[in-house]
Amino acid sequence: ASTLAAAAQQSGRYFGTAIAAGKLGDQTYTTIANREFDMITAENEMKIDATEPNRGQFNFSAGDRVYNWAVQNGKRVRGHTLAWHSQQPGWMQALSGSSLRQAMINHINGVMGHYRGKIYAWDVVNEAYADGNSGGRRDSNLQRTGNDWIEVAFRTARAADPSAKLCYNDYNIDNWNWAKTQGVYNMVRDFKQRGVPIDCVGLQSHFNSNSPYNSNYRTTIQSFAALGVDVQITELDIQGGSATTYANVVNDCLAVPRCTGITVWGVRDSDSWLGANTSPLLFDGNGNKKAAYNSVLNAL
Ligand code: XIL
Repeated sequence: ASTLAAAAQQSGRYFGTAIAAGKLGDQTYTTIANREFDMITAENEMKIDATEPNRGQFNFSAGDRVYNWAVQNGKRVRGHTLAWHSQQPGWMQALSGSSLRQAMINHINGVMGHYRGKIYAWDVVNEAYADGNSGGRRDSNLQRTGNDWIEVAFRTARAADPSAKLCYNDYNIDNWNWAKTQGVYNMVRDFKQRGVPIDCVGLQSHFNSNSPYNSNYRTTIQSFAALGVDVQITELDIQGGSATTYANVVNDCLAVPRCTGITVWGVRDSDSWLGANTSPLLFDGNGNKKAAYNSVLNAL
């Protein structure tokens, strides 16, 4: 195979990227994105502040630009994200208690209703666990509505679009030895035992010097999969862009049948949220394939 998507398809997987609506007029960008990737995540356009800027008034214009570009080019779409402490519109930041809980439910229904039947998988809840050694929940306005907010979000999501896979997505849950990983693992196990609808875990996999790739990543993927959920690598970038580390990530996913796909968080280094100087992606700022690109293509 000569593209990332075609190579991933050889094993029934996808290879995706994050797309920014504001860059769809950049022909270098769209040429690479269209050629190489078959799964698209909107980098910001389906987040809460973008889709419900005023309470009860939904705006899907930017989200639809990304969605339509993807589908017109034959690609599937991951939905990102419905319930998150970050990128909340001001009106939501100001809510608490039962009114915030209801606003979360209404938001999930509004966004998933708009895209009903059209999304491969939704990141229903994003980044709900705390960093550090507690293994517990992150403090947030959503968490303060009650510990059951995550399962309420998933139950609401299942009813809103029964055809979408429902994912829990987080960063720093890649290293099997970390308390945060164990916290999320215990939640997913509990959800499966109690019948709370959850279909997948998204490992963001932003690797850097503080949270480097570790060879126990495969154990993490295998362990989540053994709970009966798919695993998706949802926001991969590697500070420094090591070709070896990129190959390790791909090999670890391919080793687990339920690891269904990999998404990198941007097209060129110059598109990365981390800044081009960290060289975290597969194409350089001119759109040339990097060593990491060839490494991934060969591993797939
Ligand atoms: C980032 C985007 O890439 C940036 O453009 C934006 O300013 C902030 O959010 N975890 C996530 C993603 O789930 O939504 C974040 O995306 C990166 C970290």
